[in-house]
Amino acid sequence: MPETLAVVGGGVIGLAVAARASREGWSVRLYDPSIGSGASWVAGGMLAPLSEGWPGEHELLAFGAHSLARWPEFAAALPGPSVFSATGSLTVALDAADAADLKTIAEWVGEQGHDLEILGRAQVREIEPSLAQNIRLGLLAPTELAVDNRALVGALREAAADVEFVPEAVDDLGSLKADQIVLAAGAHSAAVLAGVQVRAVKGEILRLRRRPSASPSPTRTIRGSVHGRAVYLVPRGDGLVVGATQYESGQDTQVTVAGVRDLIADAERLMPSIGEYELHETAAGLRPMSPDGLPLIGRISERVIVASGHGRNGILLTPITADAVSALLAGDTLPEAKAADPARFEPAPLEKVRNK
Ligand code: GLY
Repeated sequence: MPETLAVVGGGVIGLAVAARASREGWSVRLYDPSIGSGASWVAGGMLAPLSEGWPGEHELLAFGAHSLARWPEFAAALPGPSVFSATGSLTVALDAADAADLKTIAEWVGEQGHDLEILGRAQVREIEPSLAQNIRLGLLAPTELAVDNRALVGALREAAADVEFVPEAVDDLGSLKADQIVLAAGAHSAAVLAGVQVRAVKGEILRLRRRPSASPSPTRTIRGSVHGRAVYLVPRGDGLVVGATQYESGQDTQVTVAGVRDLIADAERLMPSIGEYELHETAAGLRPMSPDGLPLIGRISERVIVASGHGRNGILLTPITADAVSALLAGDTLPEAKAADPARFEPAPLEKVRNK
């Protein structure tokens, strides 16, 4: 008799964990009333841990870089066509302060052993002619990638062909009969298991389609900041995903007029011809955010493993999470995932508090 595993949550994390465990001999049930319909469906899909690096954030950089390095092999093992939608990302600066930040990132991330390249105005326009003429500087990350999030959901479902899908929400882990449980319910994780330190951070995106008469899209992921708001354009076969707003607003997933207005205005500052594109879809999702930006991946009891809190990086961190959970189910730990141990948030034992 194979051991039984219940996975709670059918976003990319839950699907990848379920597919992997089933391949490794577990009899797996995955519980989700609507597979792949949450943050995984709304994601931009950029894998950009290097260009989002910042001095002092060693653990975030290392964790993201470990997962980025796993992506080619992870993707090659998926059924169907490639899920990658771009290679390379280019972060651009519109003003002097942003240009200084890009140089800081290039220097610090370079010192950690990763290749980033500073490009002048002319070089930026040479490699991405659709970008605005007033861009001052660019930071090129040639090894970063972008993934078509919806193709990924489809491929993972296919990879999980031997998993039994149960279209139900779970609100009490104690009701599940399985030998082991993985909680991968994203922004709903704290509602399933009180005390899990994950909160919802809403994000809105636009999906644009290139009309036949429109100017070509960038070929790389383009990132920038406008009036202090982060904006990115992530290539898709037929256009771009533009993201993303960020609000702490509970479980609200309505798309607002102000969100759409800001995304269009900010995207236009990076790529002036964007108005020629079809506004095909708007959507909002809930990022499962942890207090320190790293996910929570680890065993929290003899029967329960948590794999949540991936914040803005669920797609990026899918391969390392699948590896880490696979190790935990085998009674082992993945050294590269140590920084994500949920025990870092556990309250101090009473003795320690008393001795202070
Ligand atoms: N994945 C990027 C974001 O959450 O905006």
